[in-house]
Amino acid sequence: MAERTLVLVKPDGVERNLTGQVLARVEARGFTLVELKKLDATREILEQHYAEHQGKPFFEPLVEFMMSGPVVAAVFEGDSVIESFRAMAGVSDPVKAAAGTIRGDLARDWGEKVQKNIVHGSDSPESAEREIGIWFG
Ligand code: TYD
Ligand code: MG
Repeated sequence: MAERTLVLVKPDGVERNLTGQVLARVEARGFTLVELKKLDATREILEQHYAEHQGKPFFEPLVEFMMSGPVVAAVFEGDSVIESFRAMAGVSDPVKAAAGTIRGDLARDWGEKVQKNIVHGSDSPESAEREIGIWFG
């Protein structure tokens, strides 16, 4: 079923000039880029985006990290793009992410911080709709 997902290239990915590689992987998979922008995320945006994690010990460091440099926000469209992109990204912890995934191939901060994992992808149709509204209103 055709659907849309929110993809973020996080500050570590942007700083390391990996934006093009990330977007190219998703396009090569057959998904269509429908929105794209580079921005400095505000605390307000990030607190909405990561609302499900508020109160957890990693929440504040995560927000700080996401404000440490610009991010690239994109919306991609295609059949099962939400689940496909999550599979392409790999699991959250770069140490555990399989080779062949974005995190498994490109994340460099082994064992340091889970948060430096290059990308975000929406995890459900409800999250995707909510997150696209936050970033692209
Ligand atoms: P989560 O939504 O669980 O992961 P994903 O990005 O794969 O959907 O967590 C959001 C981000 O929070 C995750 O990408 C990295 C960071 N994080 C930590 O810093 N420490 C943690 O223990 C967890 C679970 C996540
Ligand atoms: Mg998540």
